[in-house]
Amino acid sequence: MHFSTSGLESARRHVGDEVRVLIEADSDIVLAREHGRLIGKKIGFSATDLTIIATAISEVARNILVFAKSGEIVIREVSEHGRSGIQITARDNGPGIPDISLAMQEGYSTGKGLGMGLPGSRRLMDEFQVISSAGNGTIVEMKKWVNQNG
Ligand SMILES: Nc1ncnc2c1ncn2[C@@H]1O[C@H](COP(=O)(O)OP(=O)(O)OP(=O)(O)O)[C@@H](O)[C@H]1O
Ligand SMILES: [Mg+2]
Repeated sequence: MHFSTSGLESARRHVGDEVRVLIEADSDIVLAREHGRLIGKKIGFSATDLTIIATAISEVARNILVFAKSGEIVIREVSEHGRSGIQITARDNGPGIPDISLAMQEGYSTGKGLGMGLPGSRRLMDEFQVISSAGNGTIVEMKKWVNQNG
């Protein structure tokens, strides 16, 4: 399901559901960030963590726009071993990443960026996985757990 700018409220009603944001313009990045904040807040993340989550969403969504032109971000609540968290999946059918370990290095960019988006997001989140190969699109899946110590 693609939520347009009017979709924030419907996302709020679909508690526990996943939210899927089609990424094909700058405004979609903003929308994906907002959904991340809304869902994250509902899960119980701190204000600082909500900013961290929004930042990580921005980076993977920006990569979709720049390198694949279009794709989607799926955001959902997850729970495991009694802890709650948020899962962000960025998916596209773009050119793919031929060498993932190279792409994960700080300062490596095939574009005009600083090459900080992927390594930065990995640092910000608790779990981070890239599935990609040349010609097969890219999936970035990341999770963050609510810090139970506050
Ligand atoms: N969705 C994607 N599809 C294809 N290649 C990608 C994708 N995301 C990242 N990459 C590749 O991985 C490299 C590193 O990504 P990263 O986000 O770390 O840096 P960047 O986007 O080049 O610069 P920055 O994010 O700092 O502006 C990119 O330069 C690009 O080659
Ligand atoms: Mg980037």
